[in-house]
Amino acid sequence: MSIIEKLSVTAVRNIHDLDIEPIPTVNILHGENGSGKTSILESIHLLASGRSFRTNKLEPLINSDQDTAIVFARLSDGKEIGLSKSRRQKRHLKFRSEKQANWENVARELPCQILDSNSFLLLEGGPKSRRQFLDWGVFHVEHGFVENWRRSKKSIANRNLLLKQRPLDLRQLAAWDSELCLAAGEVHRAREEYFKVFLPLFLELYRKMNGVDVDTLRIDYESGWDVDRDLEDILVENRDIDIRYGATQNGPHRADLTFRIGRNRAVDILSRGQQKMLVSTMKIAQGLLLSQALGRKCIFLVDDLPSELDRDNRVAILSQLVSMGGQIFVTCVEIGGILDSLSGQPKLATFHVERGTITA
Ligand SMILES: Nc1ncnc2c1ncn2[C@@H]1O[C@H](COP(=O)(O)OP(=O)(O)OP(=O)(O)O)[C@@H](O)[C@H]1O
Ligand SMILES: [Mg+2]
Repeated sequence: MSIIEKLSVTAVRNIHDLDIEPIPTVNILHGENGSGKTSILESIHLLASGRSFRTNKLEPLINSDQDTAIVFARLSDGKEIGLSKSRRQKRHLKFRSEKQANWENVARELPCQILDSNSFLLLEGGPKSRRQFLDWGVFHVEHGFVENWRRSKKSIANRNLLLKQRPLDLRQLAAWDSELCLAAGEVHRAREEYFKVFLPLFLELYRKMNGVDVDTLRIDYESGWDVDRDLEDILVENRDIDIRYGATQNGPHRADLTFRIGRNRAVDILSRGQQKMLVSTMKIAQGLLLSQALGRKCIFLVDDLPSELDRDNRVAILSQLVSMGGQIFVTCVEIGGILDSLSGQPKLATFHVERGTITA
């Protein structure tokens, strides 16, 4: 079980020192605009993944009057995770008292999903966010994936460097082509297998949560190259184009998910609220799959749920999350709006956030 039993945040945005003991079910963080609610979710996300969901750089997260941001969590099984980030130093991550070189162990221990007002960007934005979405799921269910993913990333980076060099070192290029092909095949296989399990589960959940017919909705996984052909041949054939762009045009780094409704792109048809529901359902389906495949419960961070969603949709999201039995953190300005969207009587704790501290 991934449950945060104690959370301490120091010098993150407007939070100076904050301690919370969340409950394993629904935790509601309420307070005025700018009080620090999203910053608490951001701290949890940062600890769980090494990334913020609001900014690519971590510097803006550090409180402007202080030098080092610290986030600490104790999980219900006693395991502890600690992260510190100073302005001039790299991030330091500790898990069970041991220094971690990367987020692999912690991310596995603390699977975490964010549903927020930017959720529709998964459909509207570039393919990178959709690859990240897919890879989040693959990473959790297939242990060897991360190694192959790193190998393919390294091969592409080295290949791209070589493509820009003159004279061209064809021998080295061929060596990186072979390395890339080995890793790329494995990355694709794992993504394809995951997607095969994910898609029917998602469609069923979409039907249940949205109460609509999904016959016209079509989601496809695209591998990033023509997998019916040998990638090595494709790389050789496209070498001149790759040299012109100074970048590899075919490979797993070009994978994507496409969303269509009938003949149109889903983003051109769905309203903003419908896009948000589609993406929220996708993320919830990943949590469900994780729980079915590994018996692990994902922590859901739900920021500012009401924006652009009507009551029925808010109820659909919260009821589904509650029924899955994992830990949930929900932010809102007015607590009434969330209480009104929680059907049944789930066990909940409320925290009033005021100027970066909890006051009740
Ligand atoms: N590096 C920083 N140092 C100090 N304060 C910061 C820093 N970055 C952001 N802030 C401030 O932290 C406060 C908390 O922001 P946060 O987004 O968490 O608020 P919120 O409670 O989610 O508000 P809203 O209801 O508007 O979404 C804001 O007032 C913001 O201006
Ligand atoms: Mg906020």
